[in-house]
Amino acid sequence: MTAANDRVGAVVTGLGTCLPKTVVTNDEVSRHLDTEPAWIHSRTGIERRRRVSQGTGTGDLAVAAGAAALKSAGRDGCDLVLLATTTPDRRCPATAPGVASRLGLAAAAFDLSAVCSGFVYGLTVASAMITAGGCDRALVIGADAYSSIVDPDDRTTAVVFGDGAGAVLLERGRTSDPGAVLHTELGSDGTGDDLITIPPHGEYLTMRGSDVYSRAVTTMTESARSVAGKVGWDMADVDAFVGHQANIRILKSVAKRLGLPSERVISNIADVGNTAAASIPLALADAAAEGRIGTGDRLVLTAFGGGLTWGSAAVVWSGAKPVREVRG
Ligand code: UT7
Repeated sequence: MTAANDRVGAVVTGLGTCLPKTVVTNDEVSRHLDTEPAWIHSRTGIERRRRVSQGTGTGDLAVAAGAAALKSAGRDGCDLVLLATTTPDRRCPATAPGVASRLGLAAAAFDLSAVCSGFVYGLTVASAMITAGGCDRALVIGADAYSSIVDPDDRTTAVVFGDGAGAVLLERGRTSDPGAVLHTELGSDGTGDDLITIPPHGEYLTMRGSDVYSRAVTTMTESARSVAGKVGWDMADVDAFVGHQANIRILKSVAKRLGLPSERVISNIADVGNTAAASIPLALADAAAEGRIGTGDRLVLTAFGGGLTWGSAAVVWSGAKPVREVRG
């Protein structure tokens, strides 16, 4: 970062997650579905996922992840709580104000709906608000409990989705600081709005998996390359690619197209499945905890999901120590 482009910006200072305690293995999923553990593992990379118990919802996971991110940053408050979710606790009001109150915060609070791209959308909105002076400190939480919208008898969705939450604390700093969110880019294509949807009057999520798959590979590749280019990084300069964890084969295809070696591709899909808006912060936290990302590393975060929506962020990692919680 040269002095010429050292400017005010948003900086990640804390990272927190929350996973439900109930683990559902491929063997368990296969017991009441027409599928096989080996099929699930070879086609998706997933070995297990987490599921909330009765009475636990998105808000509960979001509160725990938000508190964990504040603890990770050594802060006790913020003035914006932005919750990215497709599974709000209620249709009205938004879930974020209740999350803020339960965290003891009198903060601006709202939900953001961008399905699996929600975390990158939220990071973009909160970073822009911080940079513009609209707030000083923001919790960006991605939390989803897809078990509430997945048909347990639909093998195309029931095998892939899991529940969870992840959050970062963003604060105003300089783009030369470790943790800086250097650039983000978002996109959408509503002509694909029927590929991942809860149909009108429907109860459950439907997904045309193979159509989404091919769109995800091409779009995530273009988006990652574009955001890196905007901050002057060659892909060879990128220390870690943290993509939305929808399918290990998607991540491998994107990495191959980007020319990234497998050790720079972060994946925790085996343990958590596709956790929608929580996916990227959960992957970040596992990578940080395992020492796979460290202070000053150049990260490209790339998401893709229903809408269709997508987005990427170029972030220099802060070295924040993740706080990882487990709840009901
Ligand atoms: O998070 C938002 C973004 N989402 C994504 O990016 C999801 C992208 N899509 C995927 O990850 C994959 O498409 C899936 C994992 C959902 C499905 O894998 P696939 O390799 O694309 O399978 P497919 O839908 O092309 O189906 C291939 C075959 C079909 O059988 P036939 O027609 O070839 O006889 C399916 O009926 O696999 C069958 N199949 C299954 N078999 C066993 C589909 N799901 C299952 C299953 N177990 N769970």
